[in-house]
Amino acid sequence: MNKNQYKEKAAALTAKLTLEEKIGMIHGAQLFQTKGVERLGIPPLKMSDGPMGVRQEFYPASWKTVGNSDDFVTYLPCNSALAAAWNRRLAYDMGSVLGEEARGRGKDVILAPGINIKRSPLCGRNFEYFSEDPYLTKELAVPFVQGVQLWDVAACVKHFAANNQETERLWVDVEIDETALRTIYLPAFYEVLTKGDSLTVMGAYNKLRGEHCCQSDYLLNQLLRREWGYDGVVISDWGAVHDTYLAANSQLDIEMSVTYDFDSYFMADPLREKIEKGEISEAVVDEKVTRILMLMMRLHMMDGQRKTGEYNTPEHRQKVLEIARESIVLLKNEHHCLPLSVEKTKRVLVIGDNADMLHSNGSGSAEIKALYEISPLMGIKMLLGGNAQVVYARGYCRDEEEASDDVNWQETSLENGGGRVGSAQETAALAQKRRELRREALSLAAQYETVIFIGGLNHAQDCEGNDRPDMKLPYEQDLLIKELLAVKPDMIVVLTGGSPVEMNAWISDARAVVWSYYAGMEGGRALAEVLFGKINPSGKLPETFYKTHTDCSAHCIGEFSGEERVSYKEGVFVGYRYNDTFRVEPQFCFGHGLSYTEFCYEKCRIVQEDGKTFVQCCIANTGRYEGAETVQLYLAPPNLGKKEPVQELKGFDKVFLLPGQTKTIRILAEDCREGDMLRVGSSSRDIRWMGKI
Ligand code: BGC
Repeated sequence: MNKNQYKEKAAALTAKLTLEEKIGMIHGAQLFQTKGVERLGIPPLKMSDGPMGVRQEFYPASWKTVGNSDDFVTYLPCNSALAAAWNRRLAYDMGSVLGEEARGRGKDVILAPGINIKRSPLCGRNFEYFSEDPYLTKELAVPFVQGVQLWDVAACVKHFAANNQETERLWVDVEIDETALRTIYLPAFYEVLTKGDSLTVMGAYNKLRGEHCCQSDYLLNQLLRREWGYDGVVISDWGAVHDTYLAANSQLDIEMSVTYDFDSYFMADPLREKIEKGEISEAVVDEKVTRILMLMMRLHMMDGQRKTGEYNTPEHRQKVLEIARESIVLLKNEHHCLPLSVEKTKRVLVIGDNADMLHSNGSGSAEIKALYEISPLMGIKMLLGGNAQVVYARGYCRDEEEASDDVNWQETSLENGGGRVGSAQETAALAQKRRELRREALSLAAQYETVIFIGGLNHAQDCEGNDRPDMKLPYEQDLLIKELLAVKPDMIVVLTGGSPVEMNAWISDARAVVWSYYAGMEGGRALAEVLFGKINPSGKLPETFYKTHTDCSAHCIGEFSGEERVSYKEGVFVGYRYNDTFRVEPQFCFGHGLSYTEFCYEKCRIVQEDGKTFVQCCIANTGRYEGAETVQLYLAPPNLGKKEPVQELKGFDKVFLLPGQTKTIRILAEDCREGDMLRVGSSSRDIRWMGKI
């Protein structure tokens, strides 16, 4: 059936429904579910978070988890990890794993992926998002969504739009110029909703130019429906609707929230009453219901033709491992410190809380009840086996209070603006404990030939409803790393987390530094494989690793986490677009990532075919290891206007090569014009070739 046929059929079914029945379909009747209409065989719409796997079951009207043993799932790498792999096929595969598991768990809509732009490194939900770059985001999010929807499950891209901070997220009003909105913050949504055909989209909590996103005339009516012609279903974020009249007359289709008074939601009884009084036209509800029924038809929810899906399959775990392997980024590797040798390593000291910490069950709505999660420490032990001695020292401790099981953060998530800037707790007892842990780690470090530090962030920092105050490593890790490097200069530093951290205190002393985003259930195994050379790292940073957060344009030109209003004064100069144009040196630039082998770029040239422009290159692996290189193509317009960045990513390709092997690749250069300069490189600052169109 084509779209028009679905629409006709859906409209005919809508005509048979009573107002009461229709109202039941356009708002949450449970925390993750709407009402169906049994007499006509219309099922409820079942939704679930989230981006790193299908979330555990909650009771219908309580933020308490059911606690059965049947909702453990495959724990996927976060979207930032996926983005670090720069691999479109893996994005499709990850989407497909998520979609198949969602269907396997009986869901209709999976509330993922998050595709907001990383405007500041301090935003607590950055790990759920792909990148600071709209091109990279869309190139991965489109196949991701297509992979999800293979399984008769709808993706729900979120959060539309300009949702780039957690502080005051329910009320903050984003002020942004039209060019920045359209060139940085909207393109990924546009592509995913049109080309990617995402069947649903979630509106954001924040306001944009004075209007709440979930009832915004500009965003929903003018842009999404009229300009983009989107006919999928728009779902509100949980508690993001504030007015019956505005929501009903906007193109929002379903209102969801975190409270249990389902009949009192703005698009529940209050809307029915206004329609009965003639204050709002019933036709607006018909439109919404027709779109919901179209969605149900497209998902085969009523025709007995639906795919069944599966969860926790060995194939899913294998995919997750593949993604984790490709997501790890080798930031620094002087004197070929890495890889470590499996044969020669007999005694290893592993230091750091993150070596032994599991992350799957933290982070807000992206939390996962993982079937299992391999920690880095377990990964190393699994790889080295019983003949090596692996000793663990914690090195530092966290300071969060243990969350009580009775209170789910989501229950109170609409209070106090919905988000805050986190702060560290420092007590004399904590300081003392850390001194002791440091002393223990230091005395052990001197006795071991191989020392690996594994620290970084956890979901106390990378968390929904929370922004970081700065980029500093928490828990006095800087001091610990610095002191450890003084006694053990070849110590391998591994950082895991969801967003970049300051490294100024010790980076010049460290020889080898590895970065891993939250990499899913197989993350620890993948990390060990990289450290010991079973896997050659091929991840590249999908965002700028600033030296400090004030080197980021959102902080030094624009405003970040203002209480009521936040002005994106930096315009289009987001991420590397700012640093490259205004010559601000990052710690590690966008697109950076080393390999154990070397790649040589040869015979690059511009090829024009069928009105399209490509760069063709021969990439040779001239080193000893097999490996993969992500070749990046940046567009640099010649006569720059004052408001244009010096370069922008417009193409990439990842190529796998055996030692000595050469492959010819062709990369399509998007949006280029005659006279433009094309730059081809291994990162945004390691440009190997330039050519003019
Ligand atoms: C988050 C959404 C999530 C929803 C449902 C909200 O707090 O912003 O991303 O999908 O809750 O859990």
